[in-house]
Amino acid sequence: MGDLKILFSADQIHTRIVTLAREIDAAYSTEVVVHIIGVLRGGMMFTADLVRALTHATTIDFTHLESYAASKRSSGPVIWHLKPNNVTERHVLIVEDIVDTGLTLNALREHLLQQDPASLSTVCLLSKPARRNHDVPVEFVGFSISDRFVVGYGLDLDQRHRDLPYLAYLDEEHKKPAGTTTIDCV
Ligand code: PRP
Repeated sequence: MGDLKILFSADQIHTRIVTLAREIDAAYSTEVVVHIIGVLRGGMMFTADLVRALTHATTIDFTHLESYAASKRSSGPVIWHLKPNNVTERHVLIVEDIVDTGLTLNALREHLLQQDPASLSTVCLLSKPARRNHDVPVEFVGFSISDRFVVGYGLDLDQRHRDLPYLAYLDEEHKKPAGTTTIDCV
């Protein structure tokens, strides 16, 4: 596995998703059809697993916007590749892999709110509260984590590692040559 260390195993992710799905099911009236909007690319695996764990009826759409550009840190503004529409009067649930600064989610929420959805909520698998600089609501959180750069289960580093079935973090320390200064690039 090189310089990657497991943060959450596939089993831990599955268990948490089942629990999250029960929380989400309970939050909506039984007759509600939940309109899922998965955020590509990172949210692809989480979206696929979450919708299968929900017992509620759903419709499924995807959006694609980016905030990281080619770096490991969020930069703004977001770049839109696919804008979600037709959400008026629908109960929308955004499915994000990770909320970091909140820039991406904030932009997506603003776009959706302009269309007057019946409700708008967000579930993220990972949240980094220490990194937040946009005051954006996240109703359902899988795991709150410290400021580490995480890959796997849809999340990438330069488009790699998305296919890992687990979540891992970069172990920067053990690559550091003796005598060099630690730079937090997580
Ligand atoms: C990542 C991640 C979130 C966003 C979170 O996407 O999937 O959508 O960044 O960061 P933020 O809270 O600071 O905005 P990214 O832009 O890397 O695109 P990707 O999903 O295609 O990897």
